[in-house]
Amino acid sequence: MPAPRAPPDTTSFPAGESLENQATFLVRYAILAPSSHNSQPWAFAVTEDSVLVYADESRRLDVADPDGRELLLSVGCALENLVVAARRFGLEPTVEYGASEESPPSGGDHLRHVATVRLDSAGLTDEGAVQTELFDAIGNRRTNHRPFEDRPVAESVLARFEEYAATDGLGLELVTDPTQRREIATLQTRADEHQFDDPAYRRELGHWIGTGALGASWLTARIGQLAVSHLDIGEREGRKNSKLVTSAPVVAVLTTESEDVPTLLRVGQVFERVALAATSEGLAVHPMSQILEVDEFRTELTALLGLEDQTPVHLFRIGYAEPGSTRTPRRPLEDVLR
Ligand SMILES: Cc1cc2nc3c(=O)[nH]c(=O)nc-3n(C[C@H](O)[C@H](O)[C@H](O)COP(=O)(O)O)c2cc1C
Repeated sequence: MPAPRAPPDTTSFPAGESLENQATFLVRYAILAPSSHNSQPWAFAVTEDSVLVYADESRRLDVADPDGRELLLSVGCALENLVVAARRFGLEPTVEYGASEESPPSGGDHLRHVATVRLDSAGLTDEGAVQTELFDAIGNRRTNHRPFEDRPVAESVLARFEEYAATDGLGLELVTDPTQRREIATLQTRADEHQFDDPAYRRELGHWIGTGALGASWLTARIGQLAVSHLDIGEREGRKNSKLVTSAPVVAVLTTESEDVPTLLRVGQVFERVALAATSEGLAVHPMSQILEVDEFRTELTALLGLEDQTPVHLFRIGYAEPGSTRTPRRPLEDVLR
């Protein structure tokens, strides 16, 4: 049963208690992260000084995301929330990517250990590491499916996003040119038509809607129309999404040289950091994955962006918009703690 999402009250941080109790408290911020179809494909085990982070393979979108790329991006988003929250409460986090020798938790064959966050209670050594505005955005961030306003995003804000992505092997393309955005919109239309034409894709989406994961959202209402004719839906989705792309002053694309587990987790972290910073700036963010889910369109996007050594792995639009009304639910904490 999904639980309503709400960030914990900061005053209930168990300051005088064990590091283990404090780490458990931080996980409540991790689970507010975005995830593909709100699948929340993560689990956490808390030890006396660390949080072990798991990817839950049983929650992978087998049709939309057979390679588990979106799954790892989603886990990366949760990882970033954990890091930001740890700093807020004065704990120095160190992320180690990769599996430990430890066996999966009991009943957890579908859980893959992908990272460990070590927490140092001696306090932060990194000057200025507490970025309160990022932390405060964790509870306010939402995916916004509305059309965006015709209003540019300040260069200084975009420069900050670029700074977040300026890390080994990662890239961030910020597309503002109207012609290029129109070309991406055309690709979006074709990708939507392709995906919605696939009964397995629609069944999978229908499954996640059925769990209540996407809330009473615009998507729920529109998918109801599938009963009429799936081809019509594909065209309509394509047209609407294409307009959403062209309405956005910025189409952002995160790119990588490789797609190993640590790299994809880091991309998820960068995306979430951008999404939190955007939220604190009053900007809306909306990931749109269909182009990247189909090899043919992903290759076309790579060419359109003129990428040579990098491949696009995550696409989202950024801009100003009325706040979205959807509040997506979250799995209860006890479901994700091992
Ligand atoms: C890797 C990834 C891919 C996503 N792809 C899409 C997408 O294609 N279309 C969309 O509307 N939302 C997409 N989302 C947003 C999720 O649907 C959203 O995060 C989830 O429903 C939870 O809602 P919230 O972000 O408002 O908390 C994606 C999110 C992530 C992390």
